[in-house]
Amino acid sequence: MGKINKIAVMTSGGDSPGMNAAIRSVVRTCAYYSKECIGVYRGYQGMIEGDFTTLTARNINNIINKGGTILKSARSDEFRTPEGRKKAFKQLKDNNIDGLVVIGGDGSFTGGVVFNKEYNFPVIGIPGTIDNDIFGTSHTIGYDTALNTAVDAIDKIRDTASSHNRLFFVEVMGRDAGFIALNAGVGAGAEEILIPEENLGLDRLLESLVKSRKSGKSSSIVVVAEGDKSGKNVFELAEYVEENMPEYDVRVSVLGHMQRGGTPSCFDRVLASRLGVKAIEMIIENKTNLMIGLKNNTVITTDLEEAITGGHEINKELLRVSDIMST
Ligand code: F6P
Repeated sequence: MGKINKIAVMTSGGDSPGMNAAIRSVVRTCAYYSKECIGVYRGYQGMIEGDFTTLTARNINNIINKGGTILKSARSDEFRTPEGRKKAFKQLKDNNIDGLVVIGGDGSFTGGVVFNKEYNFPVIGIPGTIDNDIFGTSHTIGYDTALNTAVDAIDKIRDTASSHNRLFFVEVMGRDAGFIALNAGVGAGAEEILIPEENLGLDRLLESLVKSRKSGKSSSIVVVAEGDKSGKNVFELAEYVEENMPEYDVRVSVLGHMQRGGTPSCFDRVLASRLGVKAIEMIIENKTNLMIGLKNNTVITTDLEEAITGGHEINKELLRVSDIMST
């Protein structure tokens, strides 16, 4: 690999709060090391189409506090094809770009790994997704903000739930992972938390609700991860409980994409700033095919492929805490 002079940065897949802070960090670090930085609009699709912009330390002013991504994001079907990747490579070469920083989740990293293998093009990943489902980092950018958004929303639902003595099923995002559900559930004091990693079972759910009714609770909140494997979606779950426990007045609230928006938390801004610096330092040193992450409050690197395949484990202790708290 030769000397790295010009680095492209993109945001890809589902956006997450703090992506702008990560872009800012990448751009400022490039400026610090006198490297050119190019922003790619709309992820891999923009790369295929050559939708590029020059980014300098000054034109990313005032974005650290903004949700969303100034570079826009997309999921590109064309990049999944060899023809699409060939076009993307040509665009990078025609623009003299020597390396690529991808801010995104596992789908975006998969694209980066394939691209690197095909064209030996330097790629560095920065984990940006609310789902927190990436190996090699305790936190992905946006996860902390999404948790706070979910807790804030559930707190509000609690107010109305308790006024009407109702049972609420609240669905949170997370795709196939239960990190948002588990942590927001504990943080918001949910009665039960249903996550894909642990199938509680419908009988246990009913038992638990009967028990809490008997213990004098008049309203309850059940947090359900969107990827929960109980075999029923959140509306079917609510119906099932209503059928089996007519004494409950049940409602459903799906938090949805509001969890992806909003001002990033301080934690996410600091995380994004730290990971962006390391990403550029690694690529300049010709260390590529890595993901930059955080472990024990230290910035570390993980093989990009391992970041996708390494799996993600839920914290079992939190499940126990949740059980005890619902007494
Ligand atoms: O990966 C982030 C995420 O918000 C998931 O939690 C969710 O399953 C998915 O993206 C939703 O995707 P879309 O925005 O395409 O509906």
